[in-house]
Amino acid sequence: MNPLCDMFGIDVPIFAFSHCRDVVVEVSKAGGLGVLGMARMGPQRLREELRWIDDHIGGRPYGIDILMPSTYAPAGARKFDLDNLLPETEVAFVRQLLDAAGVPPLPDQERETIINNLLRELSFTPEESMEMLDIAMEHPISLVVSALGSPDRELVSHIHTRGIKVAALAGKPKHAVKHKQNGCDFVIAVGTEAGGHTGTVSSMVLWPRVVDAVAPLPVLGAGGVGRGRQFAAALALGCEGVWCGSVWLQTAQSEVTAPIKEKMFAAEPEDAVLTRSVTGKPCRTLRSAFTDAYDLPDAPAPLPAPLQNILWWAEGRTRVERVTAKDYLTYPVGQLVGDMHQQRSVREVIHSMMDELLESHEHINTFVDEQSSA
Ligand SMILES: Cc1cc2nc3c(=O)[nH]c(=O)nc-3n(C[C@H](O)[C@H](O)[C@H](O)COP(=O)(O)O)c2cc1C
Repeated sequence: MNPLCDMFGIDVPIFAFSHCRDVVVEVSKAGGLGVLGMARMGPQRLREELRWIDDHIGGRPYGIDILMPSTYAPAGARKFDLDNLLPETEVAFVRQLLDAAGVPPLPDQERETIINNLLRELSFTPEESMEMLDIAMEHPISLVVSALGSPDRELVSHIHTRGIKVAALAGKPKHAVKHKQNGCDFVIAVGTEAGGHTGTVSSMVLWPRVVDAVAPLPVLGAGGVGRGRQFAAALALGCEGVWCGSVWLQTAQSEVTAPIKEKMFAAEPEDAVLTRSVTGKPCRTLRSAFTDAYDLPDAPAPLPAPLQNILWWAEGRTRVERVTAKDYLTYPVGQLVGDMHQQRSVREVIHSMMDELLESHEHINTFVDEQSSA
């Protein structure tokens, strides 16, 4: 029996990271395990989302993912004074960029309300993460995933006492070993192909190294997995399952707006660029005029996380998305964006992954049979 299917009572070891509750529910109902990213919500919205999931998931297991950065610049309380929080030069750079592109500024009277409402929804500091975790643990979650950094031992034990499993993302074997030492139940090895925050080593090279470094702890392969052949590759390299994020963005259930989906359907793998311009940490994102602007020699260095994220969301994204300024639209996505051509359903994605996995199995079996009878 697959150890992760066994651990959670699921049918297939396909774990789905998503900021969208509909994707989480659909994946769990299709036999995988949906994991809700909480980084973009405040406590009130989290309660609503988890209540909704509980009402719709039919008792299937699901998890949550929290950002627990080991380093961060304090952003203060959930109410922000944007003009004092962010350095003037950086704010001016983004404002001038969007002004020059004809993207209208936020209306003066609404600006503060819009920005505060938006930023209240983001959780960055360890205190905010702990508050969110406490809320999540009031619900029947089966898994807590730590997105950045290793959850400390005490926290892992605390979560374990509730019968909840703990995992963490790793872009290097040494991070994976730390997760194991701190008591994680499994590790997610994220190759550079991945959407969102990611390292520099490819999945092909990283996965077997992490598998060897933490054996016999199970490992999920992440970064560039959107189809059955990639799933087969993860199993062949010693992983016990896969963790996917980008593939759900193309689905009918996802949070991605139609204009951004259109941009994704036209993109090539190289349009998923690794940039610090949206969060302050290396984050693989759909290339846009905004990410390009930060590559120019006169661009300021991106601010440390979470300040750059606040700058992008508050000054950039809000302005850009209000008027659908196409050139500036961006969203985190991995290199497999090049394989996304049309909208599909979550169920179709999972079924086609499983079908192609079986084809890969036959392909390998035929090869092995021929070799052994030669
Ligand atoms: C839109 C998007 C947002 C993401 N946000 C987070 C996050 O908040 N926390 C996290 O642990 N990982 C986040 N990730 C990364 C995923 O957990 C995962 O590592 C990655 O998507 C796997 O590679 P793939 O994109 O090739 O499937 C995000 C990924 C995407 C595509």
